[in-house]
Amino acid sequence: MHGYDRKESIRLQDQAETLADLLHFDTIFPEGSKVLEAGCGVGAQTVIIARINPGARITSIDISESSIAEAKKKIEAAGIANVTFRQGDVFQLAFQAGSFDHILVCFVLEHLADPAGALTTLRKFLKPGGKITVIEGDHGSAYFYPDSKEAHAAIDCLITLQAEAGGNALIGRELHPLLERSGYKDIRVSPRMVYVDRSKPKLVEGFTKKTFTAMIEGVRESVLSRGLIDQKIFDKGIRDLYRTTQSNGVFCYTFFKAFAEIV
Ligand SMILES: C[S@@+](CC[C@H](N)C(=O)[O-])C[C@H]1O[C@@H](n2cnc3c(N)ncnc32)[C@H](O)[C@@H]1O
Repeated sequence: MHGYDRKESIRLQDQAETLADLLHFDTIFPEGSKVLEAGCGVGAQTVIIARINPGARITSIDISESSIAEAKKKIEAAGIANVTFRQGDVFQLAFQAGSFDHILVCFVLEHLADPAGALTTLRKFLKPGGKITVIEGDHGSAYFYPDSKEAHAAIDCLITLQAEAGGNALIGRELHPLLERSGYKDIRVSPRMVYVDRSKPKLVEGFTKKTFTAMIEGVRESVLSRGLIDQKIFDKGIRDLYRTTQSNGVFCYTFFKAFAEIV
């Protein structure tokens, strides 16, 4: 693993641990249910959902062999026995139709050029009455005190970079229409706001610093080499994001979690 991947893996782990309660207190699968986790990455969410659902049989897939290998190690180290892993592309999975009671998709659609196509493709792997849970962020939901136009400009660079790569960093707000367009019914979306001030030191460290600001800082070389922003403005933006973690700073961000069923 090269340096960036290692840092990104640590960031995803910090994010998952910090947000476990907010995002997963209601990720509950009935005893004995078969669950497909699509795009498990290095297993940061897998560990959490497997622990709170010991009676579920979870199959976790990802397109990246190296992420699957890391996820396997993590699950083994945690002594978890109800997860199996497979390498696979969400658009070309080799499961039989109707194999799963539930599908979980977390922080994956934002990276795909055709998120509705992915949701439509996944639908056929659900049994009749099967359910899907989708969790995504939305970088347009970041606001903070003290405010800073440079910090917003730095965040906008990541939004542009993700769009250039075919993804959408503003996808959280689109979950309801996306699921509807992909043939799901009974769609319920709940916003999950992370609100951070100095009275929440774990969130100051785990979310504002190690999850959000680390993510923006992580694209510094890419945005500067593409000439998306002046270096001084970007660096001031990052300093201003860290400034929101000081004594009178405040940081807000909203994730979106959707539940839906197949028609
Ligand atoms: C930001 S990571 C999220 C990982 C994990 N769900 C989490 O929340 O920590 C996005 C993951 O989607 C995977 N991915 C992207 N396109 C995919 C595809 N077409 N099929 C399967 N996985 C894919 C990537 O390899 C990556 O591991």
